[in-house]
Amino acid sequence: MVEKGNILMEKYEIGKLLGKGSFAKVYHARNVKTTQSVAIKVIDKEKILKCGLMDQISREISVMKLVRHLNIVQLYEVMATKTKIYFVLEYVKGGELFNKVQRGRLKEDVARKYFQQLISAVDFCHSRGVYHRDLKPENLLLDENRNLKISDFGLSALPDCKRQDGLLHTSCGTPAYVAPEVIHRKGYDGAKADIWACGVILYVLLAGYLPFQEKNLMHMYKKICKAELKWPSWFCSDVRKLLRRILHPNPSTRISMAEIMENPWFRTGLDASWFNYTVHPIEDVVPVDMDLAFDSINSSTIEGKQAREKLTNLNAFDIISLSNGFDLSGMFGESPNKEESKFTSTNTASTIITKLEEIAKSLRLRLTKKDGGLLKMEGSKPGRKGVMSINTEIFQITPNFHVVEIKKTSGDTLEYQKVMKQDIRPALKDIVWAWQGEQPQ
Ligand code: ADE
Repeated sequence: MVEKGNILMEKYEIGKLLGKGSFAKVYHARNVKTTQSVAIKVIDKEKILKCGLMDQISREISVMKLVRHLNIVQLYEVMATKTKIYFVLEYVKGGELFNKVQRGRLKEDVARKYFQQLISAVDFCHSRGVYHRDLKPENLLLDENRNLKISDFGLSALPDCKRQDGLLHTSCGTPAYVAPEVIHRKGYDGAKADIWACGVILYVLLAGYLPFQEKNLMHMYKKICKAELKWPSWFCSDVRKLLRRILHPNPSTRISMAEIMENPWFRTGLDASWFNYTVHPIEDVVPVDMDLAFDSINSSTIEGKQAREKLTNLNAFDIISLSNGFDLSGMFGESPNKEESKFTSTNTASTIITKLEEIAKSLRLRLTKKDGGLLKMEGSKPGRKGVMSINTEIFQITPNFHVVEIKKTSGDTLEYQKVMKQDIRPALKDIVWAWQGEQPQ
């Protein structure tokens, strides 16, 4: 653990916690020699290995080495110990842009300036073949001069669920910023998906709330896929026109970056220097030692290798599913209740089924397999309210990552809760990564 007051690698004095996610914590720190403030993102290697995100991180670091722009938080260096990876990042003083929006929508000129800077940074990345794929408010910071900075472009695919409090935060894995084609999981153009997210961000800055907001995830999907928009009265016609073109359901006819930059509303008051990408030539980038970060005991052990082979190819949708602190309730509609629980597992479906069969046998429950990953477990004797019946449903996120839903479909609730607590949950221990609403073990 990095404790307050610790000195990291004799170089950085770690200060207060700035933010916390499932896999990472961000601390303020100071370079002991120069006193320069930095932000240090500490990533737990074990958790990353467990869900197969190591390759993703190493890919993302290569990406961060490629991008240096005034509106992108700079990665200074990467360090690692046996158990942790440390990203030393540019410290951005002014907090999250969306804390500002939560206090009220922004004036058109102010919103436009942030949008121009956002487009400048995203276009810069696209020009270097880098797509963010997960642009969201948590990643937008403000510096002391009120300039927007996209935080860790490239590392963004790492789940980060700081808070689940506010309207404007991507709470509980909702795909509020995700483009229709990402939801459809058909394979998508990263640039067009980023443009969509920029449109959602612009809407939020101007409106003070999300364009596609629904408690029920399926309803939200529908709204997104149809690009069902309502215009606040204060949105001028030029903004409406532009947003219609950005939040267009078909990515192939959606507006391009070049077209956004030609749009008259966008160009109003534009500071051309934001688009002068030569300000920070790519050659200036401080080399990041990738081998240092990844050449650790974990990467050379068989378990490490196996773990790394698991769960590769997660797309933005999978990451979003992962990113809500393992409370996947949003994914499947209702919230957890007394009659159902869910857990995530990094095992294959067949391992999960074998485990459920073992449990059913030991509890003398009759197990029947139904279509679509559904297993039914039924008691033989009627209890207070008839025979207890439990459905377990296995949802595949990737071949090695599943969400398992356990639900009482008949019988007494108290009896079900008792059997869950005393028998089923302990017996599932080996295959559970995290129970819904709990942090992974
Ligand atoms: N929170 C997350 N990243 C940060 C950064 N680079 N600076 C300040 N706060 C942050």
